[in-house]
Amino acid sequence: MPYRTLALQFVCMVLVAGCGAESREGHAGTPDDPWVIGMSQCNLGEPWRVQMDADVRAAAEQHANLRVIFKDAQNRSLVQRAQVEEFVEQGVDLIIISPKEAAPLTRPVAEAYQQGIPVIVLDRAVQGDQYTTFIGADNVRIGREAGRWIRETLGGKGKIVELKGLMTSTPGQDRNRGFLEGLELDQNPRLEIVFTGEMQWLEPNARREMESALATNSEIDVVYAHNDPGAHGAWLAARAAGREGDITFVGIDALPHEGQQYVRQGILDATFLYPTGGYEAIEIALAILRGEEVPKHIVLGTRLFTRANVDEGGLPIN
Ligand code: FRU
Repeated sequence: MPYRTLALQFVCMVLVAGCGAESREGHAGTPDDPWVIGMSQCNLGEPWRVQMDADVRAAAEQHANLRVIFKDAQNRSLVQRAQVEEFVEQGVDLIIISPKEAAPLTRPVAEAYQQGIPVIVLDRAVQGDQYTTFIGADNVRIGREAGRWIRETLGGKGKIVELKGLMTSTPGQDRNRGFLEGLELDQNPRLEIVFTGEMQWLEPNARREMESALATNSEIDVVYAHNDPGAHGAWLAARAAGREGDITFVGIDALPHEGQQYVRQGILDATFLYPTGGYEAIEIALAILRGEEVPKHIVLGTRLFTRANVDEGGLPIN
């Protein structure tokens, strides 16, 4: 290749690399020419995700130099993959994605990132490191805290049901792993997991799984569900069997109008806050668009809500 062509290619590469954090389409990031963010939400069928979009929207509305395009992937990884590709074609300045599953979304995210579009991965992770930054709570930590709370509440003895989220998503894997660590089964031989089911984050599935658990176990002391809809579904099944009074129910998410409300109503005994990260995503997006360095991994905190502390806003877990 002649030297001049090579040199020209190099200049182009530098330009492409350099414009990732700026704007491929030349949006100036002013009220007249706002930066455009594409937000791909894995589904809007679950209240926690509706809240995440609302948090992103509310945070973005504070900035006249920003516009967000929202897409709902309706819980289908292939649809979500196409949405990321559409955002790239559209020439958005930045992508926020809350992916349904890790493996199928890894490549489209990596391709967008490699083309110079900053990508913020929110709540559920993808594989590898081909994205700009990940924002989310530590699900291993939350699972561990749930395990510890259950171990202590049971006094080291009892029969446990675990209702898992979607196990092809990272929070499902991490909430399971942390939970087992927190239970310390090795040192507590009288704690026993008598039933596990995968409810894929969905209340009707959790209800069905719990019906099986109840049918096959005359004694159940605790249900640990990977999210509050799952814990509520389990409670509905137990109530239908007249056994809800014998069982302690623990969930995760703690939305004010969902999990926290269940705790107030005496349906759940404990729930752990899983922050949506919507506000933080917009703050970090702005920093990236302004060309600032941001951390690769941003970990959000959690809180424990029980009847004793729900009216005081829960207990921070450090
Ligand atoms: C909503 C949800 C939440 C859960 C999170 C995990 O889709 O299932 O209930 O905490 O996703 O990513």
